[in-house]
Amino acid sequence: MKDQARWNSFVSACLNCGNCELAKTRTNVVIGRGSNLDAPVLLVGEGPGEQEDLTGQAFVGRAGKLLDHLMNALMFDADDYYICNIVKCRPPNNREPLPQEAQACLPWLRFQVKYIRPPILVCLGATALKYLVGEEARITKIRGNWIECPGFFRIMPTYHPSAALRDPTKKEEMFQDMKKVKQYLLSMRNQAQK
Ligand code: URA
Repeated sequence: MKDQARWNSFVSACLNCGNCELAKTRTNVVIGRGSNLDAPVLLVGEGPGEQEDLTGQAFVGRAGKLLDHLMNALMFDADDYYICNIVKCRPPNNREPLPQEAQACLPWLRFQVKYIRPPILVCLGATALKYLVGEEARITKIRGNWIECPGFFRIMPTYHPSAALRDPTKKEEMFQDMKKVKQYLLSMRNQAQK
């Protein structure tokens, strides 16, 4: 049984966060999207864009629509996944978060990972990969290949949906990568039933 009070105090701490300069320009803190805090899949993007900043919801703009479309096409249930970002406040003009902004925000993401304890983590794009896997990792080289973190989770690196919006080839590759996630989720569930 999860301690909902811990989650609630995490949420209020995030909403009051002033750990980096992004706090000065944000409209809303974007904590994440998903109603199941036991979701087996945690998707991690880069940072909120304009629509996310205005609504306080993760991935609700064009990139989010593509992601939802892809998840629906692969028949993921809404309860199967939770979506969040490396940083919880919008970087001005959608620039990549600065290293100090990402480092200031990462403890919040670590809390979410520890609380949700997902067996599967998906890095959406280069920024998520950089902070969750390492500086040297290249999305174009390692996407679609599982990275094992035994005892914790396995990571699937794939493209950011914004990159897939710009390039149909990447969209297809992203679909194939998320298909592997779906297959693994189904195999986990089959194992659990045995
Ligand atoms: N891009 C991201 O990385 N995250 C969002 O929430 C929206 C767009």
